[in-house]
Amino acid sequence: MKEQLESIKRQAMEALEAAGSPAVLEELRVKLLGKKGELTNVLKQMGKLTAQERPVMGQLANSVRAEIEAKLEQRKVDLHAAALEEKLLKETVDVTIPGKAVVMGKQHPMNQVLQQIKDVFVGMGYQVVDGPEVELADYNFTRLNIEEGHPSRDRSDTFYFTDDDSLLLRTQTSPVQIRVMENAKPPICIIAPGRVYRKDEADATHSPMFHQIEGLVVDEHITMGDLKGALTTLMKQLYGPDAVMRFRPHHFPFTEPSCEMDMQCHKCKGTGEVDGQVCSTCHGEGWIELLGAGMVHPKVLENCGIDPEKYSGFAFGMGLERMAMRSTRINDLRLIFDNDIRFLNQF
Ligand code: PHE
Repeated sequence: MKEQLESIKRQAMEALEAAGSPAVLEELRVKLLGKKGELTNVLKQMGKLTAQERPVMGQLANSVRAEIEAKLEQRKVDLHAAALEEKLLKETVDVTIPGKAVVMGKQHPMNQVLQQIKDVFVGMGYQVVDGPEVELADYNFTRLNIEEGHPSRDRSDTFYFTDDDSLLLRTQTSPVQIRVMENAKPPICIIAPGRVYRKDEADATHSPMFHQIEGLVVDEHITMGDLKGALTTLMKQLYGPDAVMRFRPHHFPFTEPSCEMDMQCHKCKGTGEVDGQVCSTCHGEGWIELLGAGMVHPKVLENCGIDPEKYSGFAFGMGLERMAMRSTRINDLRLIFDNDIRFLNQF
């Protein structure tokens, strides 16, 4: 029996030493010390021993068990440490490698200009509202007093979705006027920036998608003077006190009277010439057209359930790209949409 115990101990020590994982250790523990384990088997034979032998063997068996347990425990600690060591080695971080620089983006020049314009109008008490880009022809044209057959409704100018020409990509932000007046009663004081679409070939000054900012103010006693005041304030705030504007008579079906506002060309200072050459920015005009505007047509007010006898209003629609071309001092619109980082980084 003594040999048996010693052989169990020897083999156990070897097996434990060789065990390479916690799972193997657990298997060994069951095999050696478990209820059906080798040591238990030996102890079951204690009955056959004499009274003198029994305590001696008992003691030996206990010490074998204690040694196996101690070895098990120690191997567990060893394996755990080895696993940790391996993990740490694998996950080593070389703190001396230079880090990746975080590239900070910035606002697109169009958004910068939009933000400036919004700031000025919000400062004057305007609310910023939104309208859908997919619009009903009814809102985009009819209720703005643009009748069936008007050239601006032509299929060659407008992206229609349906055969009956009732749904389209809005060609202007003016339908937002209708949407606002339908839902709110005066006083109304809003701007509505957004994308608009026309079937234009892209060139230096045209793009099939561009941006407008609509403005609408309706209340009692609103006059053309209020319109000029609001737009002049905007221009002076954006371009400084020396900015020069002019208002020219024009025609829009949804305003009466109507006008366009031009800004004196910043390149040639209104002379139309730079170094004896025709100015390339204004094509010799001396002025750059920035927006259309006017007093809201009484029919349009009526179309929205607002009494034109009691209320009057002004509206304007400005081209955001035009404004951005002025502040970025570029003369080709396509640069704005190319998204070339070398261009964008200059602003
Ligand atoms: N919607 C007009 C355009 O796109 C501009 C405009 C807006 C004119 C509001 C008058 C009033 O040309």
